[in-house]
Amino acid sequence: MAEVVLEGVGKCFGTRPVVQDLSLHVPDGSFTVLVGPSGCGKSTILRMIAGLEDVDRGRLLIGGREVTKLPPQKRELAMVFQSYALYPHMTVYRNMAFGLQKTSTLSKGEIDRRVRQAAGKLSIDHLLDKKPASLSGGERQRVAIGRALVRKPKVYLFDEPLSNLDAKLRHRMRAELRKLQEDLQITVIYVTHDQVEAMTLGDQVAIFNQGRLQQVGPPMQVYDNPANMFVASFIGSPEMNFLPCGIRNRSEGRFIHYGAYEALLSDQDAGYGHAPILLGVRPEEISLGQGGQADVQGVVQRVELLGADALAHVQVAQDELVVRLPITQAPRTGQGIALRFGRSRPRLFDSETGHRLQGAAGVS
Ligand SMILES: Nc1ncnc2c1ncn2[C@@H]1O[C@H](COP(=O)(O)OP(=O)(O)OP(=O)(O)O)[C@@H](O)[C@H]1O
Ligand SMILES: [Mg+2]
Repeated sequence: MAEVVLEGVGKCFGTRPVVQDLSLHVPDGSFTVLVGPSGCGKSTILRMIAGLEDVDRGRLLIGGREVTKLPPQKRELAMVFQSYALYPHMTVYRNMAFGLQKTSTLSKGEIDRRVRQAAGKLSIDHLLDKKPASLSGGERQRVAIGRALVRKPKVYLFDEPLSNLDAKLRHRMRAELRKLQEDLQITVIYVTHDQVEAMTLGDQVAIFNQGRLQQVGPPMQVYDNPANMFVASFIGSPEMNFLPCGIRNRSEGRFIHYGAYEALLSDQDAGYGHAPILLGVRPEEISLGQGGQADVQGVVQRVELLGADALAHVQVAQDELVVRLPITQAPRTGQGIALRFGRSRPRLFDSETGHRLQGAAGVS
């Protein structure tokens, strides 16, 4: 296994930059997810790591060795695509063995051992004599993963490998893939545009927008402490609420307020005086006000019952807030409602640049 390091990597198609100044460390044996909207450059990054796309600037290191200019076959990587790319006329066994037969000097016996071992790990031993056409989507995906496993590469690259599967199967394959990675301690770089997949799979998640890395960190850290409004709204469903705050000057300092909710601006942000400040509150961080304790009053516009909990869309002055409540507290449409914001340390954003204000970034 090996770590992967990108240093100041950039890529243009024609004159258009699609990946800009990307520095990223993928630790040995970790599961790293690259996530972002369609067209943000995820596949291009993976293809540069694989050697399928030239790097215009910067350096790429795998296991401490620079590979920026090395051809794909010298990088000891395996890539699994969304389309599986299986050979239709070959059996599962041949599909898995073929790459090794072509490119390695391994004995027939060793290849056989590896194919059967990988098939066992992926529970596809009983399918080895079948052709891809007679397999289900999930089984094909396992074969594609098996083909990567038998090569024992230093790093596994996955490009949206589960997006052709239905929701239930995707969920199961996700769990299996994660278990496989943990059992084998392999290094995985996994591309998806699905933020749920990113949250549940990764040791670390790297979020991209328009070719630029926005933030990288463990999923819950990114969820709790997003660096900017893009990350805050991309990660988490339903989206974070962004509430425009007023400012009050008092003897104790400068405060932001929204309704009756108040928070003291840190020293770093006290001088802030540009665009309006937005308070970022996740739907589950809002609760019903009890015993006259409330930050805001609103009127319920719409309720979605999700089973264990309910999403209430609540009009508060000019804003519509989305609130997640336990199903037992689900309100009715048209009802007046009192709400409290639970978080003691607020997340504040500059409404013009989308940047997180410093003092609220969890460093104060
Ligand atoms: N060979 C190419 N020539 C020109 N432009 C390209 C080429 N490959 C990709 N692009 C462009 O580069 C940008 C990034 O593409 P990329 O495939 O990396 O995005 P992505 O994040 O993987 O998107 P998706 O989630 O849709 O797969 C896109 O605007 C795309 O149109
Ligand atoms: Mg892609």
